[in-house]
Amino acid sequence: EKEALRVCVTGAAGSIGYSLLFMIAQGRMFGPYQKVILHLLDLPTMKKALEGVKMELDDGAFPLVKDIICATCPEAGFKNIDVALLVGAKPRGPGMERKDLLRDNGNIFKEQGEALDKYAKKTVKVLAVGNPANTNALIASLNAPSIPRENFTALTRLDQNRAEAQIAHKVGVPVENVNNVIIWGNHSATQYPDVTHATITDYPAEGFVENAKSTLCDKWLKETFIPSVQKRGAAIIAARKFSSAASAANAVCDHIHDWLVGTKPGKVVSMGVISDGNSYGIRSGLMYSFPVTCHKGTWKIVDGYKIDDYSKEKMQITEKELIEEKSQAVGK
Ligand code: NAI
Repeated sequence: EKEALRVCVTGAAGSIGYSLLFMIAQGRMFGPYQKVILHLLDLPTMKKALEGVKMELDDGAFPLVKDIICATCPEAGFKNIDVALLVGAKPRGPGMERKDLLRDNGNIFKEQGEALDKYAKKTVKVLAVGNPANTNALIASLNAPSIPRENFTALTRLDQNRAEAQIAHKVGVPVENVNNVIIWGNHSATQYPDVTHATITDYPAEGFVENAKSTLCDKWLKETFIPSVQKRGAAIIAARKFSSAASAANAVCDHIHDWLVGTKPGKVVSMGVISDGNSYGIRSGLMYSFPVTCHKGTWKIVDGYKIDDYSKEKMQITEKELIEEKSQAVGK
């Protein structure tokens, strides 16, 4: 039997945590044979709520869950872990500006980076979900110098899933036939969802490619599709009064599953990763979302996509925002 993986979810008493923990317990993240020890980390004020979540996980009687640990300090939460899902963050409150959020959450991710450095396994795989996710991932990694920078990533898979679903609806194909939409840059309204290299497969209708091209006309892509992917998070808040939770948890499972297990041949996914050495002219030292392929816990940026002028401009807008966030968060 494979050894159980220790998986920490921070913000475990929050909304995403509530969906995510059950998906992990059901095998959505690591497959149907991999046992897990769940570390539930949240603030001391949430101690009771955490115990309630643990009670419900117990009541799921999940064969894959070997143990559940509730923690209210990073030491216990991160001790010996293999995977860190950094969901916990302060939401933006009324009257708070983006830079206030950067400061408050920057402090959380600094503390958690330091704690990961001290207590987690050196091979730990880290995913920042709490916003601003890209810059938070960067801050955590800068504060964990003994853990390889490639082990830190940020979630943009939800954006990719949203984009692929919208394309599938528009052209009327099953969603699994739409692949390789790329999310470039920041998980924010400046992200660039790029369909230039996307594929739509196995559609039986003759002449489909031409049809798809006319359906996905330039005007629709630029004026409807791109802004609606960029602002989908806000649309969900407006409709539900809460930010997306189950769809975010689902994307977290996709991200970690593909990273640890591997992407299928020909499949490209988007992940916020360190930009050092990229071939697309993006400044190094940023946690920027790129197209990647993964193999057993490693990722590699897919090189060689031809970038047209429109895409280039969009990629630079979101790069600029990440440079600004970085300078506000770490002062350079
Ligand atoms: P929530 O407010 O329901 O839960 C957050 C939880 O984090 C709370 O239980 C809170 O006590 C906890 N927390 C706060 N500071 C903590 C700390 N220092 N250590 C441990 N726990 C801490 O929020 P929700 O809906 O679960 O969202 C969490 C974050 O995920 C938000 O920042 C949200 O903006 C972000 N998000 C990111 C997405 C992405 O695609 N990257 C998509 C959706 C949400």
